[in-house]
Amino acid sequence: MPVLDLKKIRVNFPNLRAEIYGKPLVYLDNAATTFKPTEVLHAMDHHFRRGTSNVHRGVHFLSEQATAAFENARRQVKEFLNARGVQEIIFTSGSTESINLVAQSYGRSFLKSGDEIILSHMEHHSNIVPWQILSSQTGAVIKVVPINDAGEFIFEEYLKLLSPKTRIVSVVYVSNSLGTVNPVKKIIDAAHVKGAKVLIDAAQAVTHAPIDVQALDCDFLVFSGHKIFGPTGIGVLYGKEALLEKMPPFKGGGDMIKSVSFSKTTYNSLPYKFEAGTPAIAEAIGLGAAIEYVQAVGLGPMATQKNELLEYGTSVLCKIPGLRLIGTAKAKSSILSFVIEGIHPHDLGTIVDEDGVAIRTGHHCTQPVMERFKVPATARASLAFYNTKEELDVLAKSIKRAKDIFHA
Ligand code: ALA
Repeated sequence: MPVLDLKKIRVNFPNLRAEIYGKPLVYLDNAATTFKPTEVLHAMDHHFRRGTSNVHRGVHFLSEQATAAFENARRQVKEFLNARGVQEIIFTSGSTESINLVAQSYGRSFLKSGDEIILSHMEHHSNIVPWQILSSQTGAVIKVVPINDAGEFIFEEYLKLLSPKTRIVSVVYVSNSLGTVNPVKKIIDAAHVKGAKVLIDAAQAVTHAPIDVQALDCDFLVFSGHKIFGPTGIGVLYGKEALLEKMPPFKGGGDMIKSVSFSKTTYNSLPYKFEAGTPAIAEAIGLGAAIEYVQAVGLGPMATQKNELLEYGTSVLCKIPGLRLIGTAKAKSSILSFVIEGIHPHDLGTIVDEDGVAIRTGHHCTQPVMERFKVPATARASLAFYNTKEELDVLAKSIKRAKDIFHA
């Protein structure tokens, strides 16, 4: 028995009513991006139609109204993450920019040659490349925690890599290509024993479970609005105030300064020091609406629904001969990555698309994961709480059709 009234919920996501080639859309690409409920669409529409104005810049009514809405969104994020204050919430364009900000601002200021950065083998490219750039700039060395055949973080190997040279540990909370849920609290506590700072990539985790940055005690945490039913172009960097205070700006421009002259420029206080230029105003307001929506539905019921779907999807897919799941961690979120003997994932993706089924195929921006499992790519069905078991049946039927076509 579903814990949520899915019929009512699905009506509230207009995109779910789309038809693809005359067939009802089955959207199973939620790890790439999620659909938006009407609350988010209305909030953004209202800003664009009736409230368009810049923020922090005008004394006129519309500007003050837009500023209040923008700052209210920041307060909503602060509460959602249980940060100590709004000064710890930086708006960015997404998780990728947030990680680059930390690498360039914190990393370039506090890391030197020989220092060590620990990542895991299941990181998204956005949590690898910024550190490689930093490594080439500073001489800091990257160490990689291996993963086992189930796609789990090998904690004992992590403990072996940690040392007084470790300055930063940057790990994903929920893997986008395997679904693995990492033991981030344990990872953070072990890093802190060595005096290292920890960044948590929560891009896929924000809809998985409530996040409490104070309980986690992470130093930085990042996520993107569009993975939590909000818009693209907006994301968040949470950082501990004491660290953000010590960090230099990442970008220069308007809004991030107190005063500018050719002889001396002084920077604005937090969080504005890191928000140069006109921010993504409507997007921040949309993110606030998305958070309000998620809180109204409840992350608990959403998780129950997704766990049921994951269990059902796993059993349905595993019955298909020749199908191998990639990512079978004990602690797993609603991601089903798989390969099928005799069919390239891209061919599979094209065939299921003809049946209206949207899945992602490829390396999912995690090429080291593909290398680890010795596959060129996987097909990935990623589930949101608004998906149904019937949709998973459509996927399974479509996979069987692909197998017939390829005699696989
Ligand atoms: N990182 C996103 C995904 O997993 C885009 O699809």
